[in-house]
Amino acid sequence: MRSQTGDLIEKRAHAVKAKYDEILPKNDERITESVRSSVEMFSSIFTKAPAVIAVLAEPYTAIIDKVLSQTSHSHSDINKLRNYPDIQTMGAAIGNLLLAATDLGYGACWQTGAMVAKEELSKLIGIKEPFSLIAFVAVGKPIVK
Ligand SMILES: Cc1cc2nc3c(=O)[nH]c(=O)nc-3n(C[C@H](O)[C@H](O)[C@H](O)COP(=O)(O)O)c2cc1C
Repeated sequence: MRSQTGDLIEKRAHAVKAKYDEILPKNDERITESVRSSVEMFSSIFTKAPAVIAVLAEPYTAIIDKVLSQTSHSHSDINKLRNYPDIQTMGAAIGNLLLAATDLGYGACWQTGAMVAKEELSKLIGIKEPFSLIAFVAVGKPIVK
């Protein structure tokens, strides 16, 4: 776990905000100011945490991958056939992370809202192949126990 420095927090927050500015339609009455500010708040909670865990994944390979990849099936075909074990694994890992943090007396929050800027965030953090950024888990001391 690397503690957050001001400059990196600013850059990450900026990348997320810029992405939402890009993807949220400008002239759509359903996207009110209150929707816009909720989305922004929800996706930037990590900037207020004393520490953020960047959860990374590397491609999940089971025996069946080795067998079927010699046929016409791609890794993503096999993953789909098996009902996305890669995603299920990540959910389990993050769930355990939250439980462990809570057990140690911390508060933790799963953050996928910021992942709209996954590409930019990955560059800022320095994530390289074969790893990919899955989520942030913001960690801090809870105000209420
Ligand atoms: C897959 C997933 C992604 C989440 N992403 C965010 C997020 O981007 N920002 C946020 O503030 N909370 C996020 N949360 C946390 C939820 O907002 C909420 O705090 C958590 O699910 C517990 O709420 P509950 O007790 O009502 O279930 C996420 C939760 C899950 C399971």
